[in-house]
This record gives sequence, C-alpha cells and structure tokens, in this order.
Amino acid sequence: MKNTMTMTDNRDGKSYEFEIRDATRGPSVVDISSFYGQTGMFTYDNGFTSTASCESEITFIDGVEGELRYRGIRIEELASKHSYLETCYLLLNSKLPDETELLKFDLELRHRSLLHENLKNLFNTFPTGAHPMAALSSATAALSSFYYSHLNIADESGYQEMARRIIAKMPTLAAFAYRHSIGAPFIQPDIERSFTENFLYMMRAYPGGKMHIGINGEQKIKAIEIKALDTIFTLHADHEQNASTTTVRGVASTGAHPYVAISAGISALWGRAHGGANESVIKQLEMIGSVERVDEFIARAKDPNDEFRLMGFGHRVYKNFDPRAKILKTLQDQLKNELNLDSNLMNIANKIEEIALSDDYFISRKLYPNIDFYSGVILTALQIPKPMFTPIFVIGRTIGWITQWIEFKKQKGNKIARPRQLYLGK
Ligand code: ACO
Repeated sequence: MKNTMTMTDNRDGKSYEFEIRDATRGPSVVDISSFYGQTGMFTYDNGFTSTASCESEITFIDGVEGELRYRGIRIEELASKHSYLETCYLLLNSKLPDETELLKFDLELRHRSLLHENLKNLFNTFPTGAHPMAALSSATAALSSFYYSHLNIADESGYQEMARRIIAKMPTLAAFAYRHSIGAPFIQPDIERSFTENFLYMMRAYPGGKMHIGINGEQKIKAIEIKALDTIFTLHADHEQNASTTTVRGVASTGAHPYVAISAGISALWGRAHGGANESVIKQLEMIGSVERVDEFIARAKDPNDEFRLMGFGHRVYKNFDPRAKILKTLQDQLKNELNLDSNLMNIANKIEEIALSDDYFISRKLYPNIDFYSGVILTALQIPKPMFTPIFVIGRTIGWITQWIEFKKQKGNKIARPRQLYLGK
C-alpha cells in the first residue's frame, strides 16, 4: 500500500490525497504533480525552500548534521584520501577508478585540454580588464559551436566524451580569460603536467613556458600548492540542486546543447549570493582591515535596516557548519606556515567566526561559515587574484553540472521546467 498525505481545503471541507515517496537518505517527498489537476490551485514556494525539483542519485546533503556525500562517499574521505580527478571519475561513473582507469582518464583529459585556435579570437573581443567570469561563460557557450554533435548524444561513450571534453577544457578557458583580462599572452596547457598543476602553470608562466625563478631559486609550483588547489576543486565538485545546478537542469530540459547549459550555470554562479561570494569575502575582509573593526561590521550585519551581510556566512541548506568549510579551515591552518598566508586577513576571519558563533543573532538563525569564508585566504596564498576566485569554483563545479546534465538526460519522462505563478497584476 502506498503512503499518502491528505490535505483538506478548510473553505469547503474537500480532501485531496497525495503520495509520499521515501528517499534512500534524507527527507521523503510529497508528490504534488497532480495538485493542480485535483484542486485547480498551484502550490507556492518562493525560493524553493520546500521543493524537491528532481530525482537524483549523485549528491546527498544533510544540512542539519552538516553532512555531504558524493555517490555515497563522505566529502571528508574524498578530500583526505582521493584526488580531484578521482572525484570526477566517481561522479561520472558512480565508482572510484582503479589505477588503470585513473591513468586513462588523466591522459584523456590532458589530451583534450587544448582549445581550438579560432576560440582564442573570442577572448580578444573582450576589453582588457573585463571580469574573467564574463569571458568564461561566453567562451563556454561558444564551445558548443565547435562540438555541435554533442547536441544529439546517442550512447554512453558519447556522454563520456562530451563530459571529459568540457572538464578538460575548463581550466584552459579560465586561464585564458584571466590572461586576456590583464593583457598577458595566452599560455597553452602543458601535456606533461597534471590537471591541477597545469592550471597554476597557465596562470603563472611566461611565454615559452618559462616559470619565474624566486630569489632563492625555489621551485615555482610547489607540491603543497597543487594539493591545496586540488582539495579546493574536490570540495566544489558538486552540491546537489543549488541555484546554478538548477539552472543547468532547467536549460537541459529545453533540449539545448550541454555546453550552453554549463554556460548558463556559470552565469548563475557568478552572483554574490552564490559562487561570487568567495570574491566578496576577501574584499570584505580587506575592507574591514583590522581585528579592531570587526565589532562594527558584525553590528551592521545584524542591523535589519542595513543591507550589509557577512559574506561567507549562512547557507540555504546547512543549518550547521558547512563540512567543506571545516575542511578548508583545517587546510588553512596547515598551510599557515608553509605558504605565505595573510595573517592579518586570517586574524580578521578568525575574529568574525569567533564572535558570530557566540552571538545570538547568528545562533538563532543558524548562520555558520560556508565554504566561501575560508577559500579566499588560501587562494590568495596561492597567488590567485580575486577575480579568479569564482572561475576556480567553476573549474571545480563543471564535473557536477555535467553529471547532473547527464542524469537529467538519461531519466525517462522528464518534462520541460515550467513553473507557474501567483498572478497579482491587473
Ligand atoms: N549576514 C547577516 N545576516 C544573514 C546572513 C549573512 N550572511 N545570511 C542570512 N542572514 C539573515 C537574514 O537577514 C535573515 O534574517 P531575518 O530572518 O531576520 O530576516 C535570515 O538570516 C535568513 O536569511 P535568508 O536570506 O532568508 O536565507 P537564505 O537561505 O534565503 O539565504 C544565503 C542563504 C543566500 C546564502 C544567505 O545566507 C547569504 O546571503 N549569505 C551571504 C552570501 C554567501 O556567503 N553566499 C554563499 C553561499 S554558499 C555557496 O553558494 C557556495
């Protein structure tokens, strides 16, 4: 027998029954797809705070416990024992790769990291100083014209090829967007470098592939820097049905090209309520400037008449510590002595965290630091300029978006995303 929920319209006493469907983890859902048919009314849920928009087997979040799993594996385990590429493979294939599978996957991504020469012209149309996110979303959309056949994928190998291509090219697109924004020549990917190292190389190298030698002749891309960035990519790989992923699925539902859907996801991510928060956090820490001024800004964040918000605090789903933030905080502490972490910014961040976690305003609203609160200090130590913080989020999240796109396409009976409204006009 099916589990159901009965709803009564208190205006006329009529009752309506809806099926309850259980999840394998987390809250069950009430299937209201027949709601309009039965009642002649719509449901209203501003911001989708109580709405499950799809079925998914990819990522699970328990916001109360502060738990995050990709394909059933906890984020803490992935971040400590596995690389970003292993995580990508896991998301795409529902299993971690063995040694041979990983090697093949890695080699294939290296081979696919180049961009078509014509695409370089597109970056040159942007003014110097343009935000890299603008060029990145445009170039990703433009990529659909180079791989138009991905519009009609017929089998699993087609999905894999399409996904691997976009994952491999995203660091190159992001690095090109950055280099153009500062008027520097493009650096082509180096096939002998790993996914994560290659990105740092394309950001930092001089023409001809030369790396700047430090005063002490130290190696220019340190293993610890690669590990730190790789962890950041892993922590950003997927996050269930957030605003940008919902955008990607919405575009997928119209039948548009997958890379156009990813481009739309990039645009949605840019906003400061979403992925743009990481850039805003560091700007805010710099604006606060000193530990002595933290109280003043906490007071502003609490003032209902002031629009100021503490960037990197609060989350729609996590009503506890964001587990990704915990991992980054630990990473930040580990890197403190090995990389040149800005101790002033760290002290301001620590002070904000200390006050907010003991202040009733934040406690009662369950506002905890999110992933963006800590990533900025680490990215700054990796010599990543602020406008590249959100593109780094994009590089990490591309695997999540494309996996969600594929899941949507493979599910039978999915409809075009077409919500209704409560009309209050004339
Ligand atoms: N600083 C101060 N107050 C806050 C903050 C904050 N960062 N976040 C939420 N609040 C307050 C709101 O003013 C509201 O208070 P009220 O009940 O007195 O009106 C209450 O907490 C609930 O806030 P909502 O905006 O309704 O919560 P929602 O779930 O819709 O928003 C969001 C979540 C957008 C993340 C919000 O917390 C925010 O703007 N945070 C700052 C930006 C940020 O860090 N974004 C990154 C999110 S993680 C990511 O996308 C990768």
